[in-house]
Amino acid sequence: MKKVKVGIVGLGRLGLQHAKNLAFRIPHCELTAVCSVIEEEVNEVMQKWNIPFGYTNYEDMLKNKELDAIFIASPSGYHCKQINQALEAGFHVFSEKPLGLYMEEALEVQTAVEAHPDQVFMLGFMRRYDRSYAAAKQKIDAGEIGQPVLIRCYGLDPANKMDSFLKFAKANYSGGLFLDMAIHDFDLARWYLGAEPEEIWAIGGSYARPEFDEIQDAETGAAMVRFDNNTTGIFVAGRNCAHGYHIETEIIGTKGTLRIGTVPERNQIVIMKEEGAIQECVDGFLERFEQAYLSEVEEFINCILEKRKPEVTVKDGVESTKLAYACKKSFETKTLINVKEESVAYN
Ligand code: NAI
Repeated sequence: MKKVKVGIVGLGRLGLQHAKNLAFRIPHCELTAVCSVIEEEVNEVMQKWNIPFGYTNYEDMLKNKELDAIFIASPSGYHCKQINQALEAGFHVFSEKPLGLYMEEALEVQTAVEAHPDQVFMLGFMRRYDRSYAAAKQKIDAGEIGQPVLIRCYGLDPANKMDSFLKFAKANYSGGLFLDMAIHDFDLARWYLGAEPEEIWAIGGSYARPEFDEIQDAETGAAMVRFDNNTTGIFVAGRNCAHGYHIETEIIGTKGTLRIGTVPERNQIVIMKEEGAIQECVDGFLERFEQAYLSEVEEFINCILEKRKPEVTVKDGVESTKLAYACKKSFETKTLINVKEESVAYN
């Protein structure tokens, strides 16, 4: 079978993991080119993994006619432009979330994707490919908890990564807590509830680290959302979780409740000693979602080979961005936001 030849841009925290998956863990895929503005990163990966092409300039990589697909794991502010350029150059495209930093960018990507219907486009909403989240979806669709009426999501980054996050956020605008972190939960809520948001109220603040105020962001925030089928979403996002990386989701239905990740345990070990019974927790997204990152990339490659489209669409990216922006506006203006009225302004 033909191998899909991929060029990746961004070799940072997540890009390197994607690169490793593309290079070694996906059948019928070949990591053919790597690109980063940091030359040492490019050289190191090329030498270590024997990658034939390396670039410090993205446009140069797009001129490589051996490639079939471009994988984007650069900072969020580059996604919109790089997706557009790659589609325009005829490649299949995978992009990390979000589609862009602004609503206008997300809509621009949607137009570009729709203008290239024969190319595969996939957005990195990897939680849909996590075994537990995927199984939850099947159980909900099979009616095991009746009609879903409420979703509660926690998305909390570990406190020990706050310094590196603040450094990252100061150098590269991340879009803020709701766009950068809660967007995965917004996607899950739309997916599980089968509904679009109507009204939003979001609040938050900086508590352990006042630097979040300086970058006009919240360290911890919460949003309450009413969806158009009269279901409810409660979202908590934060950067200061003492025990590790805590991603938890609860869906309450008319006949039962389903929870995913209530204790973000690292493994099945419980250590009992003077301090008590201790269960270690996962310490970041790479550990918690290792299998999901691999499965989503496998799906992207299979979609190209089988000439089909992934379940996650550009529209999912646009709608989740709308919700994130409404939260940001509600948080900044301290007002209740009607998402549909907000959306009219974008059209
Ligand atoms: P990072 O800062 O660790 O890495 C960024 C990489 O892009 C570096 O290799 C840097 O040299 C390179 N780069 C920067 N500007 C570039 C340019 N103009 N052209 C080419 N390369 C460039 O960032 P991280 O944490 O890996 O995040 C990357 C993206 O992945 C972000 O958009 C973020 O939102 C997303 N992300 C998604 C996660 C998920 O769970 N799906 C988790 C973490 C990040």
